[in-house]
Amino acid sequence: MGNKSTSSHKPVLLQESLKALAIEPGGRYVDCTVGGGGHAAAILDKSAPGGQLLGIDADPNALEAAKERLQNYKESALLVNDNFGNLRDICLKYKFYPVHGILLDLGLSSLQLGGDRGFSFQSNTPLDMRFDPNQKVSAADIVNGSSESKLAQIIRAYGEESQSYRIARSIINERPITSTLQLAQIIEKAVGRRGKIHPATKTFQALRIAVNHELEHLESVLKQALDLLGYGGRLVVISYHSLEDRIVKQFMQQEAKGCICPPRTPICICGHNPRLKLINRKVIVPTEMEIKNNPRSRSAKLRAAESTATQSDGHVAGDSHDFVTIAKSNSWQKLTLMQKSRIVLLAG
Ligand SMILES: C[S@@+](CC[C@H](N)C(=O)[O-])C[C@H]1O[C@@H](n2cnc3c(N)ncnc32)[C@H](O)[C@@H]1O
Repeated sequence: MGNKSTSSHKPVLLQESLKALAIEPGGRYVDCTVGGGGHAAAILDKSAPGGQLLGIDADPNALEAAKERLQNYKESALLVNDNFGNLRDICLKYKFYPVHGILLDLGLSSLQLGGDRGFSFQSNTPLDMRFDPNQKVSAADIVNGSSESKLAQIIRAYGEESQSYRIARSIINERPITSTLQLAQIIEKAVGRRGKIHPATKTFQALRIAVNHELEHLESVLKQALDLLGYGGRLVVISYHSLEDRIVKQFMQQEAKGCICPPRTPICICGHNPRLKLINRKVIVPTEMEIKNNPRSRSAKLRAAESTATQSDGHVAGDSHDFVTIAKSNSWQKLTLMQKSRIVLLAG
């Protein structure tokens, strides 16, 4: 999969992402899901001269694809094979803060969907689904090792599948299950076909979310992003299903609020200050043209917010001795234009 052409992944909502990130020449950006490097290349083009990009991906094959795509940006791109759940530590390690923008383009790339790691039932491959092959638990481990009620719970919670108990029961009866087609056929036999969408789609989504702890990492990275953005820095998230979008929406709305005390509390006791300003009240979705050219984009939803945090809010990028304080509104931009650290491509 690592040698596949990187051109087969079309970046979703590309112009909309660049606009929401408000890219400036000389800016510093983090692409938490660098994938095939499509968004990253466009960010680097737009932030030239002097722009810098830190690209993260949990999947080493994706990082190889990004490395190929970003060949021409060796001086300005740093690629790191890690989970974005470790965003703060990664940025501290490479002294990459404060930043002008952070992008998350969640979910799977076309390279992963068309690969041999069990993400899709379009072809018959082992039930794996790990973004990071060093992770211990694969989809096969969950399918073959969980109790019926645990399986049903996963399928219900992460797939929003109303027939979760029926599916879990049929999985238990047919174990061991080792391949994608075997699982898809068992599910189809259990619940039948309704409409265009294959009945295994939701279960596959659920297993992938469970294997990769996707929702936990998303909740965690959003909080960390707040500490790393400079004043006016942008947080842009593209999600592909309602569970992700709900987390992003609620997080941004909550952080854009002042007091979050329960209604009718006479005096504010929460002391909550807004740290974000919403850029678009309404979620941004692809045009019909984009969906036609790239059907994978059809469920995409983009939300964006701007950091309002200043030094006086006491936001820090770390809690160890040498933590870094986010600089004040008009001084931090000068800081990010620093030339001192030459950024190199680390992967491989
Ligand atoms: C939709 S793709 C990104 C595509 C990319 N924007 C492009 O234009 O090529 C999502 C990527 O995020 C990665 N990913 C998903 N969850 C991750 C996590 N928790 N940490 C790091 N990478 C993650 C996946 O491995 C995948 O390569």
